[in-house]
Amino acid sequence: MKHLVAPSVLAADFTDLKSEFEIINSSPADWFHVDVMDGRFVPNISFGQFIIKFMKSIAQKPLDVHLMIEEPEKYIESFKDAGADLITVHYEACNHLHRTIQQIKDAGAKAGVALNPHTPVSLLEDILPNLDMVCLMSVNPGFGGQKFIENTYVKVRKLRKMIDDLNCGTLIEIDGGVSLQNADKLVEAGATVLVAGSSVFRAENPLEAIKGLKSAGEKSYFV
Ligand code: DX5
Ligand code: ZN
Repeated sequence: MKHLVAPSVLAADFTDLKSEFEIINSSPADWFHVDVMDGRFVPNISFGQFIIKFMKSIAQKPLDVHLMIEEPEKYIESFKDAGADLITVHYEACNHLHRTIQQIKDAGAKAGVALNPHTPVSLLEDILPNLDMVCLMSVNPGFGGQKFIENTYVKVRKLRKMIDDLNCGTLIEIDGGVSLQNADKLVEAGATVLVAGSSVFRAENPLEAIKGLKSAGEKSYFV
């Protein structure tokens, strides 16, 4: 399996979202990464179900919805109805993570858990087989365009080993500050989904940036 690339629409030009989506639709990118922020779990507010419905109507690839919100269990079904194909909740925002993961699956979406940079991957040991994806935050969530945190490589390697030992096939997504500068090393460490906001939408040539990210990791884990 080749790794996936998920451009983060937070960095897109919202005055011309249709054209921005068209670039991704006709590129080798795999998903749209959609960041939902509530101003409580993270110090920023982005958009919710209403906007995602419009995104769904112009997206020709799955929507990977990253919920940076408190009490995500209150909104799972409505995000699924809005068009989410994969729903990721934060470990730090869930008192009953196992129940919330089941709720996402019952709603008919794939289930992911995101970890803030300070949260150890070992905390997922007992729930890993239930997860379609783990999202490792490589910046503190809340804003696009931040600097990549180097310790992420260590976390990817640890998580890769946990997943391989269990043979559960859970995807490892990296979110924040991902670019052509670190993509090779991330894929070599075992990452399977690269989220990229600024490095795609703010690139001189977004299509070339996506192609570059897709071909990261010549000696990748899966090749
Ligand atoms: C950060 C978001 C990211 C962000 C990534 O809180 O979860 O998905 O959009 O943007 P870049 O790639 O610019 O760091
Ligand atoms: Zn995100």
